[in-house]
Amino acid sequence: MLLFPFLLLSSLCLCTSTGQKAPKIAVGLQGMFVFGSSIVDNGNNNYLPTLGKADYLPYGIDFPFGPTGRFSNGKNVADLLADLLKLPLVPPFLDPFTKGHRIIGGVNYGSGGAGILDDTGSLTGMVMNLREQINKFGEVTVPQLEALLNCTRRRILAHHLFLIAAGGNDYQFNYFTRNSNVSLETFTIHLLAAYSQRLKRLYRLGARKFVLLAINPIGCGPVARAGTPNNDCWESWNAAAQLFNHRLKSMVDCIKSQFSGSQFVVVNPYNIIKDIIDNAASRGFSNVTSACCELSITGILCKGLGRVCPNKRSYAYFDAQHSTEAVSRIIAAEAYASNNNTVVYPFNVKKLAQL
Ligand SMILES: *[C@@H]1O[C@H](CO)[C@@H](O)[C@H](O)[C@H]1NC(C)=O
Ligand SMILES: *[C@@H]1O[C@H](CO)[C@@H](O)[C@H](O)[C@H]1NC(C)=O
Ligand SMILES: *[C@@H]1O[C@H](CO)[C@@H](O)[C@H](O)[C@H]1NC(C)=O
Ligand SMILES: *[C@@H]1O[C@H](CO)[C@@H](O)[C@H](O)[C@H]1NC(C)=O
Repeated sequence: MLLFPFLLLSSLCLCTSTGQKAPKIAVGLQGMFVFGSSIVDNGNNNYLPTLGKADYLPYGIDFPFGPTGRFSNGKNVADLLADLLKLPLVPPFLDPFTKGHRIIGGVNYGSGGAGILDDTGSLTGMVMNLREQINKFGEVTVPQLEALLNCTRRRILAHHLFLIAAGGNDYQFNYFTRNSNVSLETFTIHLLAAYSQRLKRLYRLGARKFVLLAINPIGCGPVARAGTPNNDCWESWNAAAQLFNHRLKSMVDCIKSQFSGSQFVVVNPYNIIKDIIDNAASRGFSNVTSACCELSITGILCKGLGRVCPNKRSYAYFDAQHSTEAVSRIIAAEAYASNNNTVVYPFNVKKLAQL
């Protein structure tokens, strides 16, 4: 793990002055920068004053280093995608050790509770919203990388993937929790306009290869089911997720033409998770409606040192909001290699990495 970043360094474009040596041209993907919510947070919230933390057991019970702040029993979808791309594990931005050569393979800015909109997440405490995450990337990480590699941001970042998983919290913990009198339609347009602004900022900083993880069937999570009489999926939440996901594809078609040289992949976890829920037995899951862990009084996160289900691999949800590693593994595998356009649009991450 320690040697790997140096191997990467040697193959990356080094814009050195020594006239005889032509600058090396990077081949293949060099790393991944990660932005978004608890779906990808890998420890940033450990350093923030928030209730949305997962730095205690049973979180991380199946992770090689135990609890790290990931909202899962094991790896999250960003980790699993990095594994498939043969990239090193990406460190969390707020970890004080995330500096020097450790940042060459990318940095994760994900923050549990965060949304696309600046005020999403304020219910749970302090979070790094998407705007702040991108600010940290642009103001702290990019200058560090340029100095480290003596190379322009454009040349460095063209060989990194930008994974963004955001939007669900803007509905769950913003639109549906505030007594908003704007229509779902209007809110969604506003949300996607904000999203495209954030993406534009990343593009201007040098990002070229984007993977946008759309919204889960948020109405089918245990926390949403708890609000329905028969423990069914909460259809108005699911409808919001589907509306967003549908419009996200159109947004990408639109901005791709404005962001010259960029490539986008939209991964739709809605269809993947819904398929697991609807065909649980044949997909190897025995329980797709309840949290695997004993919940804390919030009814969302796991209780510290609480009970866990005996077979974590057969549960879809680890707590009342977040999937188990088993489900994240399926999402990552489909994102990487699926040829189904309703799951990856317009092509898969494997192809994006090769472009
Ligand atoms: C960095 O690169 C520039 C030109 O590409 C060169 O003039 C400068 O000497 C290099 N610095 C180092 C430390 O290699
Ligand atoms: C919401 O409704 C109030 C009146 O009930 C109105 O004053 C306000 O402008 C509305 N907000 C929006 C965003 O439509
Ligand atoms: C693609 O995925 C959708 C949603 O999961 C599914 O309904 C459809 O059957 C799949 N198509 C193919 C060709 O596998
Ligand atoms: C899922 O597990 C919960 C408790 O962990 C249990 O109450 C529920 O009945 C289970 N559902 C199914 C379909 O087995």
